[in-house]
Amino acid sequence: MTAPSAPPPAASVSMAVRIGSLELRNPILTASGTYGLGYEFARLADLSKIGGVVGKTVTMTPRIGNPPPRTFETAGGMLNSIGLMNPGWDGFVRDTLPRIRELPCPFILNVAGKSEDEFVELTRRAGELVGIAALELNLSCPNVAGGLDFSAKPELTERIVARCRAVYPLPIFAKLSPNVGDIVAIAQAAERGGADALSCVNTYLGTAIDWRRAKTIFPRGIAGLSGPAIKPMALLATMRVAAAVKIPVVGIGGIAKADDVLEYLVAGATAVQIGTACFWDPGHPVRLAADVETAVRTAGICDVQTLIGTVQPSPAPAANPAPAPGSCNVGGTNPR
Ligand code: FUM
Repeated sequence: MTAPSAPPPAASVSMAVRIGSLELRNPILTASGTYGLGYEFARLADLSKIGGVVGKTVTMTPRIGNPPPRTFETAGGMLNSIGLMNPGWDGFVRDTLPRIRELPCPFILNVAGKSEDEFVELTRRAGELVGIAALELNLSCPNVAGGLDFSAKPELTERIVARCRAVYPLPIFAKLSPNVGDIVAIAQAAERGGADALSCVNTYLGTAIDWRRAKTIFPRGIAGLSGPAIKPMALLATMRVAAAVKIPVVGIGGIAKADDVLEYLVAGATAVQIGTACFWDPGHPVRLAADVETAVRTAGICDVQTLIGTVQPSPAPAANPAPAPGSCNVGGTNPR
């Protein structure tokens, strides 16, 4: 029997994906907090080659962030405890918005309020700005007091998203926490509230300890874990959420290679965000976009969207034949 031959490479490939009214030239976005506000990197990477930039969270008032250290490398990942350092709304609008307008890709503004009302007010103000393609509500920051509360209870998530929806005309992404009992219930609540997309997921709670001093590395004790170490868990969350909602899901967590991106798409993500890998190399998202296109073309796929949500459970292996009488084969195919 001859092995099935590989499909020929596709002559042309469409990499475009859509989130609500937002058309992305490809599914690669940068994750909030890992790529500044985008313009800082515009001389290091050709940002016209990626789908878009999600900016560092902007809050109503300036925040100096948490005391150092704020990052710590772990096996296969990184812990951060930044504490939403940012110049606040007025500083953002005055100093950085004009530079964001020059970006050659869509800019998605990420905001976080200290309260439900603050989320709504930030969203209302965002609706008045020119140069913002969409809004991401950071309902899930683990590094500030109360930051996780907004994506911990379905009723609250639904209400915040619904109130923000009512004052904002462009796409809204709701960024969810994995540190909850049932992320699917929170995702469905955000969908009911009118979110256009779900960013899935923010960092996992973690810590690091210096045993010699018997002290936590981070003064706050708790930090957020990202990077390859969280990929299997974040991929599962993405797959479960995507199966339970009708709106697009944006996968986040440990994405560094083209295969990672394509696994997330097959799991149901419409787009992905690259986070920790941006710290290794600010050019990474651009190279990744090219690598994903090459992988899709090589697989003979003409439109990347045809991959989204195609995952199926692997078929169970055929039942093992009964062991021959007197044989020592105790199961499986590995005679011991
Ligand atoms: O600490 C931080 O600024 C992180 C924010 C987040 O994970 O949302």
